[in-house]
Amino acid sequence: MPDELQHLPLIHRILERERHTPGALLPILHAVQKGIGYVPDNAVPEIAHALNLSLAEVRGVISFYHDFRTTPPARHTLRLCQAESCRSRGAEALAAQVREQLGVDDHGTTADGSLSLRPVYCLGACACSPALELDGQVHARLTPERLRELVDGCFTEVTA
Ligand code: FES
Repeated sequence: MPDELQHLPLIHRILERERHTPGALLPILHAVQKGIGYVPDNAVPEIAHALNLSLAEVRGVISFYHDFRTTPPARHTLRLCQAESCRSRGAEALAAQVREQLGVDDHGTTADGSLSLRPVYCLGACACSPALELDGQVHARLTPERLRELVDGCFTEVTA
């Protein structure tokens, strides 16, 4: 069964359960992403039909919220803090460094699917800024060298 078709039964169960909920679109999109890991393109017409919306309306909401992914999640997610305390301690330069190292922009994913880059606005580690979160673990007092090591580590396991 092609990948995109294997998700249809789950999408239909979610639509059956949520379609009559007021403001159903966001809960449906969250449920689809939670169940599948992202919102596949073939979910869009199913959702639009169930909620009597246009394809453009559904796609507009998906693209408006950066939390919704339209491709499978990367193996690693790096969330680099871009809030005030971290910015005052070099986070902008670190962000530029990691974008260049990965060849992707914020919210992008490397072509091999290893790593997604996400900006975040405070990780609660301001006293030890600049900080990032890699796969749920916070790393603080970042230096350019430490950032490069952390990013390199996401790729070395693939070739090891
Ligand atoms: S501003 Fe970056 S951790 Fe709070």
